[in-house]
Amino acid sequence: MNTYAPQRLLVTGGAGFIGANFVHHWLAHHPDSRVVVLDALTYAGNRASLAAAEARPEFCFIHGDISDTAGVERLLREENIDTIVHFAAESHVDRSIAGPDAFIETNVLGTHSLLKAARAVWLQEGAVRPHRFHHVSTDEVYGSLGRDDPPFSETTPYAPNSPYAASKAASDHLVRAYHHTYGLATTISNCSNNYGPYQFPEKLIPLCLINLLDDKPLPIYGDGLNVRDWLHVEDHCRGIELILEGGQPGQTYNIGGGAERTNLEVVHALCAIMDERYPANAPHTQRIEFVRDRPGHDLRYAIDETKLRRELGYAPGRHFEDGLRETVEWYLAQEDWWRPILSGEYRDWVGQHYGAA
Ligand code: NAD
Ligand code: TYD
Repeated sequence: MNTYAPQRLLVTGGAGFIGANFVHHWLAHHPDSRVVVLDALTYAGNRASLAAAEARPEFCFIHGDISDTAGVERLLREENIDTIVHFAAESHVDRSIAGPDAFIETNVLGTHSLLKAARAVWLQEGAVRPHRFHHVSTDEVYGSLGRDDPPFSETTPYAPNSPYAASKAASDHLVRAYHHTYGLATTISNCSNNYGPYQFPEKLIPLCLINLLDDKPLPIYGDGLNVRDWLHVEDHCRGIELILEGGQPGQTYNIGGGAERTNLEVVHALCAIMDERYPANAPHTQRIEFVRDRPGHDLRYAIDETKLRRELGYAPGRHFEDGLRETVEWYLAQEDWWRPILSGEYRDWVGQHYGAA
C-alpha cells in the first residue's frame, strides 16, 4: 500500500453537498491540516453548510471559480497546497438534460483548468512535492446495467448516457491523461448515489422528504423500478480519505454503499419513517405520483467495490435504512438550513421541471 499524508488541502466545491461533508469529516479526523475551500457558490453551493468549519483557524473559504486557471495557480502557491480534492461540478442529471452547456463548461473545461494549474505549480515550478490530485466522479460514467448484470467494476467500459455522465466521463479521461502524460499524481473515485446531511433538495431523497413535510406530491419517474446503489455520504468521505492516504497514483477506485434499492423502495422506506414520526398523516405513500419518465433514464447502477475493500480496507459503515432515518432526523432538525433554499432559483426550477411533467 502507498502511504501519503495530505497536509494542505484545496477542496473544490466544498460548499456543495459532498464537499461540505468531506470538509467536516477531514477536519474532525485531521485537526492539524489546512483546508481551503474554493467554491463558485452556484445555486447548489451554500456557505451555511460550512458554518461549523468557518470558525476554525485551519479553515479558509475562497469564493472563486475552478475555471480561473491563473487564480487557482496563485492559490496553490500562496497556500502551499499539496492536495486537491476536486468535487466542484454541475451534478444534477435532470438539469444536464434541460441545459448541457454548464456541464461541459464546469465539469470538462473547469476540470481541465484545475489540472493545468496543478501541473504548472506542482510539476513545472516544482514548488510542492509530493502532491495529490483526487478527482471525485460517478458510477454514471459506466452507463446502465440490466437487472441481472454484474455490478460496475473499475474495468467496466465507459458508456455514459446523460450529458452529465458524459461530462464526468470526459473529465475522468483528462485526469487519467494528466497522470499518464505528465506524471501528475492523480487518483479517481467513481461512486454511487450519495445521501445524507446538506444534500440539495433537487435530488430524490431530500426532495421527497421536504415535499412530505410541505404536503406536496412525491414525483416518481416512470414506474419507479430504476435501481440505485445508495451510499451514505460519510462512508463516501471515508472512502476518499482511504484513497488519499493509501491509494496508488494513476489508479481508479469504485466506492459503493452495498444498498441497491428501487426508487419505489427508497420512497416507501422514507414514508415508513415519516409514518412513525407523523402518524396522523399516515400512510405517507398516498402522496406518491407517477410522472413522466426522465429521457434516457438509466435502469440500474450498482458498484463492485472489491478493489477498495481489498487494497485499502474499505467497508460501508451504515445500513441504508439506518442512514435514511438519521438523514430524516437531520432534515427535521435543520429546517433553518433548507427552508431558505426553497425560494428563488429552486422554486423556478421545480416549477419548470415538474410543471412540464
Ligand atoms: P453539488 O451540486 O451539491 O455541489 C457542487 C458544488 O460545486 C457547489 O458548491 C457549487 O457551488 C460548486 N461549483 C460548481 N461549479 C463550480 C465552479 N466552476 N467553480 C467552483 N465551484 C463550483 O454536488 P455534490 O452532490 O456534492 O457532488 C460533488 C461531486 O461528487 C461532483 O463532482 C459529482 O459529480 C460527484 N458525485 C456526486 C454524487 C451524488 O450522489 N451527489 C454521486 C457520484 C458522484
Ligand atoms: P437523482 O437523485 O436525481 O440521482 P441520479 O439521477 O444521479 O441517480 O435520482 C435518483 C433516482 O430517482 C433516479 O432514478 C431518478 C429518480 N427520481 C425520481 O423518480 N423523481 C424525482 O423527482 C427525482 C429528482 C429523481
